[in-house]
Amino acid sequence: MRDTPDTILVVDFGAQYAQLIARRVREARVYSEIVPHDLPLAEVLARRPGGIILSGGPQSVYAGWAPLVDPGIYDAGIPILGICYGAQLLAMQLGGTVAHTGSGEYGRTVLTRTGASPLFADWAPAPSDVWMSHADSIVEVPPGFVATAESPGAPVAALHDAERRIHGVQFHPEVAHTDRGQQVLERFLFDVCGVSPTWTHTSIIEASVAAIRTQVGAARVLCALSGGVDSAVAAALVHKAIGDQLTCVFVDTGLMRSGEAEQVEETFRKQFHVDLVHVKAADRFFGVLAGVTDPERKRKAIGETFIRVFEEVAGDVEGARFLVQGTLYPDVIESGTRDAANIKCHHNVGGLPEDMAFELVEPLRSLFKDEVRAVGEELGLPDDLVWRQPFPGPGLAVRIVGEVTPERAGILRAADAIVLEEIRRAGLYRELWQSFAVLLAVRTVGVMGDERTYAYPVVVRAVTSDDAMTADWARLPYDVLERLSSRIINEVDGVNRVALDITSKPPGTIEWE
Ligand code: XMP
Repeated sequence: MRDTPDTILVVDFGAQYAQLIARRVREARVYSEIVPHDLPLAEVLARRPGGIILSGGPQSVYAGWAPLVDPGIYDAGIPILGICYGAQLLAMQLGGTVAHTGSGEYGRTVLTRTGASPLFADWAPAPSDVWMSHADSIVEVPPGFVATAESPGAPVAALHDAERRIHGVQFHPEVAHTDRGQQVLERFLFDVCGVSPTWTHTSIIEASVAAIRTQVGAARVLCALSGGVDSAVAAALVHKAIGDQLTCVFVDTGLMRSGEAEQVEETFRKQFHVDLVHVKAADRFFGVLAGVTDPERKRKAIGETFIRVFEEVAGDVEGARFLVQGTLYPDVIESGTRDAANIKCHHNVGGLPEDMAFELVEPLRSLFKDEVRAVGEELGLPDDLVWRQPFPGPGLAVRIVGEVTPERAGILRAADAIVLEEIRRAGLYRELWQSFAVLLAVRTVGVMGDERTYAYPVVVRAVTSDDAMTADWARLPYDVLERLSSRIINEVDGVNRVALDITSKPPGTIEWE
């Protein structure tokens, strides 16, 4: 957390808009943080923000339960930009009129400028396409304000009070469908607020390295590597800060994707010279999984075994006081803008029990995923690792319906490797949220050569998503599907059929178990 005057605070009114705005501000190289709308004014001011953005929200300013901000915020001398709901809110709180005009706008609409505004400095005079989503409209500006734009459904689509440096826009500059939306945000940041674009990947790394050194001093630090992006970037950052004081632990559960363990070895031991403990614990994991078919019991067995193995290794690292965790900013906000202490550990098999006496080092706590990837690239981690699709903590076990045995994990790993290879070859890997194979517990009849076969079907699952909360099945090209199917059946013993999962989430989940 930083509190320099170059920080922009994005006030959250409970929708998804705040995160997107915060990310766009950071893309302009200005540090931004999301705060709840009811954060007391004194705390807002204590952070000495260079500017404040009031985000959109799903409500109407006239609903009895509509979230407000302390009106003292308008007199603090800090530049303010209200977006959508945020614009209506400031118009209402400062004495203007917002009304339900009956002509809301949803989606693309045309914005016509009716006056000069510093926010439109980059725009040509012609009307622009912008994206809106509102039922209410500002119909009368507050005293001291001028209206500077209109649209078919919004008589006041932009307004400002130059003296107090308070601006409002009815449209959403943060979405890609708004022409030059990013420039509107940048004009607010650089010209109205006067903040500097200093939030670069190099500065993120430098600030993290300094913070890690201050936090841990000369103590020993442990980090569990999962093979995924977050733990890898966190480890690389901590290693840059404290070198040999860091010990990384990679627990090979036998449930990793093909080549994953080798890549962790190659990257961390050979390239970064990290002190790496590689625990080959597959037998132990398959031991506790023998005969288990219930998904929750599988997850629990894996989680508990992981903790036990980790504790044993930790016990051997003398004086280890700190534990690195790859917590990201969205996790902090999700549980955090309400209750900062309650960090989400949902779905995290590396989530270690609270009674393990470690203090946490969380170097990614203020970063969005795209920033984590950029930092990883800057630190020299291989592309393959930095752009990895998310992978569940319990690994392939949540993609094996029925019993998890070494043989069945082997079949799935081989099929999964083919899925990933073909998806990569088709240039689709980065645009898919996840793409993988699932192994079923039934067997079906087939025929190969002259013989009838009785073997497992593999299901191909590929989804697009922004955050895993909702997902759609990916429309993979037929020729890619054809190659997947024929390669899996020809190359993977024990599989004689390939099916495609065409279920979105909801109602389905991404994983099968
Ligand atoms: P679902 O299957 O719930 O998955 O749609 C949402 C996201 O979470 C991942 N996932 C898991 N991650 N342990 C994890 O660490 C788990 O048990 C687990 N189950 C699902 C999944 O890969 C997807 O990205």
